[in-house]
Amino acid sequence: MARTIVVTGAGSGIGKATAEILRAQGHTVIGLDLRGADIEVDLTDADSLQAAAREIAAHHDSIDGIVANAGVTTNSALDLKVNYFGAIDTIESLKDLLEKSSAPRVAITASAASLQPTDPELVALLLAGKHDEAIAYGTKLSEAGPAVGYANYSASKRAIATWVRRVAPTDDYAGKGIAINAVGPGVVKTAMTEQLLSTEEGRAMALGAMPAPLNGPVKAEGIGNVLAFLVSAENASMTGQVIYVDGGFDALPQGRGEDLWHSPKHIDG
Ligand SMILES: NC(=O)c1ccc[n+]([C@@H]2O[C@H](COP(=O)([O-])OP(=O)(O)OC[C@H]3O[C@@H](n4cnc5c(N)ncnc54)[C@H](O)[C@@H]3O)[C@@H](O)[C@H]2O)c1
Repeated sequence: MARTIVVTGAGSGIGKATAEILRAQGHTVIGLDLRGADIEVDLTDADSLQAAAREIAAHHDSIDGIVANAGVTTNSALDLKVNYFGAIDTIESLKDLLEKSSAPRVAITASAASLQPTDPELVALLLAGKHDEAIAYGTKLSEAGPAVGYANYSASKRAIATWVRRVAPTDDYAGKGIAINAVGPGVVKTAMTEQLLSTEEGRAMALGAMPAPLNGPVKAEGIGNVLAFLVSAENASMTGQVIYVDGGFDALPQGRGEDLWHSPKHIDG
């Protein structure tokens, strides 16, 4: 059955590919982006986001899915504003409309960067909802240069992946029939990585940090297909999962390695 799905970051890359896949499946897509989508919105600006939510509500009695995908990698606190706070604010501002669906779903584009070394204090500030303190902390990191500033990106993705698992089984989500999951892309060929992947040196650096033994850099459609499934009515029981679509990085020692389950509890008796 045709569904109505909101996709953020629909003007480019993974969001654009996801919107195209959903439209080809016969669904109605409402694309949100700074530019190049159905509704122009700055997800870091509360007034702009509220205006977009009002516009959606004016034309739709309900929505069936949200793909919170928009993101940036700037090695600055903007990464926190868009990738963490922007994603949560998007979902919360549309949740009333989503709850009216008979099969409500949320999917977030996190990142395999959530598996990389980061700044645990920054992750803790984000998860505690300490917006101003997190922004001040992230700004300080960015002033120490891009290598340290990158923690803004990795922390934003680590925190959003954790938030998904935190809220998924609660009354607010599972209790309302809302499945909420994330995708963790590895290196994907989009505008975000175009410059990096355009030289041999950059490609070697990207794939050195995040190896992809299966088929190398991921296509945007490869992520879009998984996001499209996560917001489908068929996804009735999977929730709280972060699915890494990364060419194998997560299974390598640089990711989480082969044993996700740590020491098994000893069987009694
Ligand atoms: N490309 C990769 O290698 C890669 C890897 C892992 C995760 N991701 C994640 O995938 C998601 C999509 O990225 P992409 O690779 O398609 O990049 P992209 O740059 O092609 O697309 C990102 C889109 O988000 C939009 N956006 C940014 N800030 C916004 C704001 N404040 N308000 C509204 N829209 C805004 C941009 O305008 C852009 O259209 C991001 O969350 C990114 O972190 C990308």
